[in-house]
Amino acid sequence: MSKIKKILVPVDGSVSGCKAVDEAIFFAEKCDAELDFVYVAGNINKDIPSHIVFDRIWEKLPGERKARKHVKSGHVAKSILEVADEEGSDIIIMGSRGLGLLKGVLIGSVSQKVIEEAKIPVMVIK
Ligand SMILES: Nc1ncnc2c1ncn2[C@@H]1O[C@H](COP(=O)(O)OP(=O)(O)OP(=O)(O)O)[C@@H](O)[C@H]1O
Ligand SMILES: [Mg+2]
Repeated sequence: MSKIKKILVPVDGSVSGCKAVDEAIFFAEKCDAELDFVYVAGNINKDIPSHIVFDRIWEKLPGERKARKHVKSGHVAKSILEVADEEGSDIIIMGSRGLGLLKGVLIGSVSQKVIEEAKIPVMVIK
């Protein structure tokens, strides 16, 4: 893997997504990388306002770390991959599961789709 200078972190406000945020911040500090957080609204998560999702992240973000918020609507995995393209992200760090209630499945449908379609490395945090 070449140098990691831009990390994309898809978030849906879930606990597992939150662990991915902690890992992403850790890697960003180690690599001196920028962070892009993306929340795709307008689907089953439409009742979580994006500022609530981002506020929790910004609380634990080291002050000097460069980070941006992206809010998209539409197809979740596709929107995440569009942001990765637009931003020129080097890696995606995301949760294995999200807010979905389906048990007994190793990873959620968004993680699965992103892993399948991404052209860059994807780190899935369990
Ligand atoms: N709306 C979203 N916007 C941005 N990232 C998301 C969104 N939904 C999920 N993700 C990302 O994908 C990870 C896995 O969530 P996913 O939705 O695949 O699992 P799930 O909710 O448990 O299952 P499913 O949605 O298939 O019922 C999350 O931790 C988060 O990183
Ligand atoms: Mg989900």
